[in-house]
Amino acid sequence: MKKKFLALALAATMVASLFAGCGKAAGSDNKVGVAMPTKDLQRWNQDGSNMQKELEAKGYKVDLQYASNDIATQVSQIENMINSGCKVLVIASIDGDSLGTVLEQAKEKGIKVIAYDRLIMNSDAVSYYATFDNYMVGTKQGEYIKNSLALDTAEGPFNIEIITGDPGDNNARFFYGGAMDVLQPYIDNGKLVVKSGQIDFATVATANWSTENAQNRFDAIISANYADGTQLDAVLASNDSTAMGVTNSLEANYTGAWPLITGQDCDVANVKNMIAGKQSMSIFKDTRTLAVKTVEMVDAILKGTDAPVNDTKTYDNGTGIIPSYLCEPVFADVNNYKELLIDSGYYKEADLQ
Ligand code: BGC
Repeated sequence: MKKKFLALALAATMVASLFAGCGKAAGSDNKVGVAMPTKDLQRWNQDGSNMQKELEAKGYKVDLQYASNDIATQVSQIENMINSGCKVLVIASIDGDSLGTVLEQAKEKGIKVIAYDRLIMNSDAVSYYATFDNYMVGTKQGEYIKNSLALDTAEGPFNIEIITGDPGDNNARFFYGGAMDVLQPYIDNGKLVVKSGQIDFATVATANWSTENAQNRFDAIISANYADGTQLDAVLASNDSTAMGVTNSLEANYTGAWPLITGQDCDVANVKNMIAGKQSMSIFKDTRTLAVKTVEMVDAILKGTDAPVNDTKTYDNGTGIIPSYLCEPVFADVNNYKELLIDSGYYKEADLQ
Protein backbone atom coordinates (compact mmCIF):
# COMPACT_ATOMS: atom_id res chain seq x y z
CA MET A 1 0.00 0.00 0.00
CA LYS A 2 2.81 2.34 1.01
CA LYS A 3 4.72 1.37 -2.16
CA LYS A 4 1.67 2.05 -4.30
CA PHE A 5 1.27 5.46 -2.69
CA LEU A 6 4.96 6.27 -3.28
CA ALA A 7 4.68 5.23 -6.93
CA LEU A 8 1.61 7.42 -7.36
CA ALA A 9 3.32 10.35 -5.68
CA LEU A 10 6.36 9.87 -7.92
CA ALA A 11 4.16 9.77 -11.02
CA ALA A 12 2.35 12.93 -9.93
CA THR A 13 5.66 14.71 -9.36
CA MET A 14 6.86 13.62 -12.80
CA VAL A 15 3.69 14.88 -14.48
CA ALA A 16 3.96 18.17 -12.60
CA SER A 17 7.58 18.67 -13.57
CA LEU A 18 6.72 17.73 -17.14
CA PHE A 19 4.22 20.58 -17.20
CA ALA A 20 6.69 22.93 -15.54
CA GLY A 21 9.20 21.86 -18.17
CA CYS A 22 6.72 22.85 -20.87
CA GLY A 23 7.57 26.29 -19.65
CA LYS A 24 5.43 29.27 -19.15
CA ALA A 25 3.26 28.66 -22.19
CA ALA A 26 1.20 26.07 -20.31
CA GLY A 27 -2.19 27.32 -19.16
CA SER A 28 -3.30 30.91 -18.76
CA ASP A 29 -0.94 31.12 -15.80
CA ASN A 30 1.53 33.19 -17.70
CA LYS A 31 -0.68 35.25 -19.91
CA VAL A 32 0.34 38.86 -20.44
CA GLY A 33 -2.10 41.48 -21.67
CA VAL A 34 -0.69 44.07 -24.06
CA ALA A 35 -2.97 47.08 -24.67
CA MET A 36 -1.95 49.36 -27.53
CA PRO A 37 -3.69 52.63 -28.43
CA THR A 38 -4.21 52.43 -32.18
CA LYS A 39 -3.20 50.76 -35.41
CA ASP A 40 -3.41 54.09 -37.23
CA LEU A 41 0.13 55.09 -36.37
CA GLN A 42 2.90 52.90 -37.68
CA ARG A 43 4.90 52.79 -34.48
CA TRP A 44 2.22 51.10 -32.34
CA ASN A 45 1.95 48.27 -34.86
CA GLN A 46 5.67 47.74 -34.48
CA ASP A 47 5.47 48.05 -30.69
CA GLY A 48 2.67 45.48 -30.54
CA SER A 49 4.34 42.93 -32.76
CA ASN A 50 7.73 43.37 -31.07
CA MET A 51 6.12 42.84 -27.67
CA GLN A 52 4.27 39.76 -28.86
CA LYS A 53 7.42 38.28 -30.41
CA GLU A 54 9.59 38.90 -27.34
CA LEU A 55 6.97 37.61 -24.90
CA GLU A 56 6.25 34.47 -26.92
CA ALA A 57 9.97 33.79 -27.26
CA LYS A 58 10.07 33.59 -23.45
CA GLY A 59 7.10 31.23 -23.37
CA TYR A 60 4.39 33.69 -22.39
CA LYS A 61 0.91 33.73 -23.84
CA VAL A 62 -0.06 37.13 -25.17
CA ASP A 63 -3.39 38.93 -25.40
CA LEU A 64 -2.58 41.85 -27.72
CA GLN A 65 -5.31 44.46 -28.30
CA TYR A 66 -5.57 47.73 -30.19
CA ALA A 67 -8.25 50.25 -29.23
CA SER A 68 -8.67 52.55 -32.29
CA ASN A 69 -7.77 55.52 -30.08
CA ASP A 70 -11.08 55.05 -28.26
CA ILE A 71 -10.78 55.30 -24.48
CA ALA A 72 -13.91 53.23 -23.70
CA THR A 73 -12.64 50.46 -25.99
CA GLN A 74 -9.29 50.43 -24.23
CA VAL A 75 -10.94 50.28 -20.81
CA SER A 76 -13.08 47.30 -21.81
CA GLN A 77 -10.12 45.52 -23.40
CA ILE A 78 -8.21 45.91 -20.13
CA GLU A 79 -11.24 44.64 -18.19
CA ASN A 80 -11.28 41.53 -20.39
CA MET A 81 -7.57 41.00 -19.82
CA ILE A 82 -8.12 41.19 -16.06
CA ASN A 83 -11.06 38.76 -16.18
CA SER A 84 -9.37 36.30 -18.51
CA GLY A 85 -6.49 35.69 -16.13
CA CYS A 86 -3.64 37.89 -17.40
CA LYS A 87 -0.93 38.08 -14.77
CA VAL A 88 0.71 41.29 -15.97
CA LEU A 89 -0.69 44.14 -18.05
CA VAL A 90 1.48 46.19 -20.38
CA ILE A 91 -0.43 49.30 -21.34
CA ALA A 92 0.26 52.13 -23.79
CA SER A 93 -2.61 54.35 -22.74
CA ILE A 94 -4.72 56.53 -25.02
CA ASP A 95 -5.47 58.95 -22.23
CA GLY A 96 -3.19 58.67 -19.23
CA ASP A 97 -5.88 59.85 -16.86
CA SER A 98 -8.69 57.47 -17.81
CA LEU A 99 -7.53 54.12 -16.49
CA GLY A 100 -7.62 54.65 -12.73
CA THR A 101 -10.92 52.84 -12.15
CA VAL A 102 -10.25 49.77 -14.28
CA LEU A 103 -6.76 49.44 -12.82
CA GLU A 104 -8.21 49.30 -9.31
CA GLN A 105 -9.70 45.95 -10.38
CA ALA A 106 -6.24 44.82 -11.52
CA LYS A 107 -4.73 45.84 -8.20
CA GLU A 108 -7.41 43.97 -6.24
CA LYS A 109 -6.54 40.80 -8.16
CA GLY A 110 -2.80 41.28 -7.66
CA ILE A 111 -2.21 41.90 -11.37
CA LYS A 112 0.81 44.12 -11.95
CA VAL A 113 0.80 46.93 -14.46
CA ILE A 114 3.63 48.28 -16.60
CA ALA A 115 3.00 51.63 -18.30
CA TYR A 116 4.41 51.27 -21.79
CA ASP A 117 5.85 54.37 -23.49
CA ARG A 118 3.15 56.63 -21.97
CA LEU A 119 2.79 57.09 -18.23
CA ILE A 120 -0.57 56.15 -16.68
CA MET A 121 -1.51 58.97 -14.35
CA ASN A 122 -3.15 59.03 -10.92
CA SER A 123 -3.21 55.29 -10.40
CA ASP A 124 -1.27 53.47 -7.69
CA ALA A 125 -1.70 50.20 -9.59
CA VAL A 126 1.25 51.05 -11.84
CA SER A 127 4.45 49.22 -10.84
CA TYR A 128 6.88 50.30 -13.56
CA TYR A 129 7.22 52.58 -16.55
CA ALA A 130 9.19 51.61 -19.67
CA THR A 131 9.74 54.41 -22.15
CA PHE A 132 12.25 56.54 -24.02
CA ASP A 133 13.73 59.63 -22.47
CA ASN A 134 10.87 61.87 -23.54
CA TYR A 135 12.41 65.12 -22.31
CA MET A 136 15.55 64.29 -24.30
CA VAL A 137 13.43 63.82 -27.43
CA GLY A 138 12.26 67.41 -27.01
CA THR A 139 15.72 68.83 -26.32
CA LYS A 140 17.12 67.08 -29.41
CA GLN A 141 14.40 68.69 -31.54
CA GLY A 142 15.00 72.10 -29.96
CA GLU A 143 18.80 71.83 -30.29
CA TYR A 144 18.41 70.88 -33.93
CA ILE A 145 16.48 74.09 -34.66
CA LYS A 146 18.86 76.16 -32.52
CA ASN A 147 21.95 74.80 -34.30
CA SER A 148 20.50 74.78 -37.82
CA LEU A 149 19.41 78.41 -37.58
CA ALA A 150 22.62 79.30 -35.65
CA LEU A 151 20.46 81.17 -33.17
CA ASP A 152 23.45 82.30 -31.09
CA THR A 153 25.27 83.96 -33.98
CA ALA A 154 22.89 84.65 -36.88
CA GLU A 155 21.14 87.98 -36.97
CA GLY A 156 17.59 86.72 -37.46
CA PRO A 157 14.90 87.11 -36.53
CA PHE A 158 13.47 83.80 -37.73
CA ASN A 159 9.84 82.80 -37.92
CA ILE A 160 8.86 79.58 -36.18
CA GLU A 161 5.57 77.79 -35.53
CA ILE A 162 4.98 75.09 -32.94
CA ILE A 163 2.87 71.94 -32.82
CA THR A 164 2.79 69.20 -30.22
CA GLY A 165 0.67 66.17 -29.37
CA ASP A 166 -2.37 65.02 -27.48
CA PRO A 167 -2.96 66.83 -24.18
CA GLY A 168 -4.02 63.53 -22.55
CA ASP A 169 -0.61 62.02 -23.33
CA ASN A 170 1.86 62.87 -20.58
CA ASN A 171 4.70 62.46 -23.10
CA ALA A 172 3.50 65.45 -25.09
CA ARG A 173 4.32 67.75 -22.16
CA PHE A 174 7.83 66.29 -21.92
CA PHE A 175 8.49 66.66 -25.66
CA TYR A 176 7.14 70.21 -25.63
CA GLY A 177 8.91 71.05 -22.36
CA GLY A 178 12.29 69.71 -23.55
CA ALA A 179 12.13 71.63 -26.83
CA MET A 180 10.83 74.84 -25.28
CA ASP A 181 13.55 74.81 -22.62
CA VAL A 182 15.97 75.19 -25.54
CA LEU A 183 13.91 77.57 -27.70
CA GLN A 184 12.01 79.80 -25.24
CA PRO A 185 15.04 82.04 -24.50
CA TYR A 186 15.26 82.87 -28.22
CA ILE A 187 11.54 83.63 -28.35
CA ASP A 188 12.02 85.85 -25.30
CA ASN A 189 14.96 87.76 -26.85
CA GLY A 190 13.19 88.14 -30.20
CA LYS A 191 15.51 85.93 -32.27
CA LEU A 192 12.60 83.58 -32.86
CA VAL A 193 9.19 85.01 -33.73
CA VAL A 194 5.97 82.99 -33.54
CA LYS A 195 3.83 85.01 -35.95
CA SER A 196 0.63 83.15 -35.10
CA GLY A 197 1.18 83.96 -31.43
CA GLN A 198 0.31 80.33 -30.65
CA ILE A 199 2.87 79.19 -28.11
CA ASP A 200 1.39 77.74 -24.93
CA PHE A 201 0.96 73.99 -24.62
CA ALA A 202 -2.85 73.92 -24.76
CA THR A 203 -2.94 76.03 -27.93
CA VAL A 204 -0.31 74.03 -29.83
CA ALA A 205 -1.59 70.60 -28.71
CA THR A 206 -3.08 68.20 -31.30
CA ALA A 207 -5.98 65.96 -30.28
CA ASN A 208 -5.08 62.30 -30.87
CA TRP A 209 -1.80 63.33 -32.48
CA SER A 210 -3.87 63.38 -35.66
CA THR A 211 -2.31 64.33 -38.99
CA GLU A 212 -5.61 65.78 -40.12
CA ASN A 213 -5.98 68.00 -37.04
CA ALA A 214 -2.39 69.17 -37.49
CA GLN A 215 -3.02 69.94 -41.13
CA ASN A 216 -6.20 71.90 -40.38
CA ARG A 217 -4.48 74.00 -37.75
CA PHE A 218 -1.59 74.78 -40.08
CA ASP A 219 -3.93 75.62 -42.96
CA ALA A 220 -5.31 78.38 -40.74
CA ILE A 221 -1.87 79.50 -39.53
CA ILE A 222 -0.46 79.70 -43.06
CA SER A 223 -3.39 81.57 -44.53
CA ALA A 224 -3.43 84.09 -41.67
CA ASN A 225 0.33 84.70 -41.42
CA TYR A 226 2.34 83.41 -44.36
CA ALA A 227 0.07 83.61 -47.42
CA ASP A 228 1.59 86.96 -48.40
CA GLY A 229 4.99 85.34 -48.98
CA THR A 230 6.28 85.84 -45.43
CA GLN A 231 9.06 83.34 -44.82
CA LEU A 232 8.46 80.51 -42.32
CA ASP A 233 11.87 79.32 -41.17
CA ALA A 234 11.12 76.42 -38.84
CA VAL A 235 8.35 74.26 -37.47
CA LEU A 236 8.84 72.52 -34.16
CA ALA A 237 6.66 69.42 -34.59
CA SER A 238 6.77 66.94 -31.72
CA ASN A 239 6.35 63.81 -33.82
CA ASP A 240 5.99 62.41 -37.32
CA SER A 241 2.19 62.28 -37.52
CA THR A 242 1.94 66.00 -36.73
CA ALA A 243 4.95 66.78 -38.97
CA MET A 244 3.06 65.02 -41.77
CA GLY A 245 0.05 67.30 -41.26
CA VAL A 246 2.33 70.35 -41.34
CA THR A 247 4.03 69.11 -44.53
CA ASN A 248 0.70 68.43 -46.23
CA SER A 249 -0.53 71.89 -45.33
CA LEU A 250 2.64 73.63 -46.54
CA GLU A 251 2.56 71.72 -49.81
CA ALA A 252 -0.97 72.95 -50.44
CA ASN A 253 -0.73 76.51 -49.13
CA TYR A 254 2.80 77.82 -48.78
CA THR A 255 5.03 79.32 -51.47
CA GLY A 256 8.10 80.51 -49.56
CA ALA A 257 11.40 78.65 -49.07
CA TRP A 258 10.82 75.33 -47.34
CA PRO A 259 11.23 75.53 -43.54
CA LEU A 260 13.00 73.17 -41.16
CA ILE A 261 10.48 70.63 -39.85
CA THR A 262 11.24 68.36 -36.90
CA GLY A 263 9.62 65.02 -36.12
CA GLN A 264 9.87 61.83 -34.09
CA ASP A 265 9.43 58.07 -34.70
CA CYS A 266 11.05 57.62 -38.13
CA ASP A 267 7.77 56.42 -39.60
CA VAL A 268 8.26 55.12 -43.14
CA ALA A 269 6.32 57.96 -44.80
CA ASN A 270 8.34 60.54 -42.85
CA VAL A 271 11.69 58.93 -43.62
CA LYS A 272 10.66 59.14 -47.28
CA ASN A 273 9.93 62.83 -46.70
CA MET A 274 13.38 63.26 -45.12
CA ILE A 275 14.97 61.67 -48.18
CA ALA A 276 12.88 63.99 -50.40
CA GLY A 277 13.96 67.05 -48.36
CA LYS A 278 10.48 67.75 -47.00
CA GLN A 279 11.18 66.87 -43.35
CA SER A 280 14.50 67.85 -41.78
CA MET A 281 14.93 65.34 -38.99
CA SER A 282 13.21 62.74 -36.90
CA ILE A 283 14.00 60.90 -33.69
CA PHE A 284 14.63 57.18 -33.92
CA LYS A 285 13.15 55.29 -30.99
CA ASP A 286 14.04 51.66 -31.51
CA THR A 287 10.86 49.91 -30.43
CA ARG A 288 12.76 46.60 -30.41
CA THR A 289 14.84 47.82 -27.47
CA LEU A 290 11.77 49.06 -25.64
CA ALA A 291 10.08 45.68 -26.09
CA VAL A 292 13.13 43.81 -24.78
CA LYS A 293 13.32 46.04 -21.69
CA THR A 294 9.59 45.74 -21.04
CA VAL A 295 9.72 41.95 -21.28
CA GLU A 296 12.61 41.97 -18.79
CA MET A 297 10.26 43.86 -16.46
CA VAL A 298 7.46 41.33 -17.01
CA ASP A 299 9.89 38.50 -16.29
CA ALA A 300 11.17 40.12 -13.12
CA ILE A 301 7.64 40.77 -11.85
CA LEU A 302 6.58 37.16 -12.40
CA LYS A 303 9.77 35.77 -10.88
CA GLY A 304 9.55 38.13 -7.92
CA THR A 305 12.90 39.77 -8.64
CA ASP A 306 13.83 43.42 -9.27
CA ALA A 307 12.99 44.83 -12.67
CA PRO A 308 15.58 46.87 -14.60
CA VAL A 309 15.15 50.59 -13.96
CA ASN A 310 17.48 53.52 -14.61
CA ASP A 311 15.37 56.45 -13.44
CA THR A 312 13.69 56.84 -10.08
CA LYS A 313 13.10 60.56 -9.98
CA THR A 314 11.51 61.90 -13.16
CA TYR A 315 8.10 60.31 -13.58
CA ASP A 316 5.61 61.07 -10.82
CA ASN A 317 2.16 59.89 -11.89
CA GLY A 318 0.35 61.74 -9.12
CA THR A 319 0.57 58.85 -6.66
CA GLY A 320 4.36 59.00 -6.37
CA ILE A 321 7.41 58.29 -8.49
CA ILE A 322 7.07 55.32 -10.83
CA PRO A 323 10.40 53.48 -11.25
CA SER A 324 11.26 53.77 -14.93
CA TYR A 325 13.54 52.45 -17.59
CA LEU A 326 14.34 55.17 -20.14
CA CYS A 327 15.71 54.03 -23.49
CA GLU A 328 17.78 56.51 -25.44
CA PRO A 329 16.23 58.38 -28.36
CA VAL A 330 18.56 58.94 -31.32
CA PHE A 331 18.72 61.88 -33.73
CA ALA A 332 17.99 60.84 -37.33
CA ASP A 333 18.24 62.73 -40.59
CA VAL A 334 19.01 62.13 -44.24
CA ASN A 335 22.70 61.60 -43.43
CA ASN A 336 22.41 58.76 -40.92
CA TYR A 337 19.06 57.09 -41.61
CA LYS A 338 20.68 54.25 -43.60
CA GLU A 339 22.96 53.28 -40.74
CA LEU A 340 20.22 53.64 -38.11
CA LEU A 341 17.29 52.14 -39.91
CA ILE A 342 18.51 49.87 -42.69
CA ASP A 343 21.84 48.52 -41.42
CA SER A 344 20.17 47.72 -38.10
CA GLY A 345 17.43 45.77 -39.88
CA TYR A 346 14.63 48.04 -38.68
CA TYR A 347 13.50 48.67 -42.27
CA LYS A 348 14.43 47.21 -45.61
CA GLU A 349 15.74 49.56 -48.26
CA ALA A 350 12.69 48.71 -50.39
CA ASP A 351 10.36 49.99 -47.60
CA LEU A 352 11.74 53.46 -48.15
CA GLN A 353 11.39 53.61 -51.94
C1 BGC B 1 4.85 58.50 -28.39
C2 BGC B 1 5.37 58.98 -29.73
C3 BGC B 1 4.23 59.00 -30.73
C4 BGC B 1 2.99 59.68 -30.18
C5 BGC B 1 1.81 59.52 -31.09
C6 BGC B 1 3.68 59.32 -27.97
O1 BGC B 1 3.22 58.93 -26.73
O2 BGC B 1 5.88 58.55 -27.44
O3 BGC B 1 6.40 58.15 -30.17
O4 BGC B 1 4.62 59.68 -31.89
O5 BGC B 1 2.65 59.15 -28.93
O6 BGC B 1 1.41 58.21 -31.21
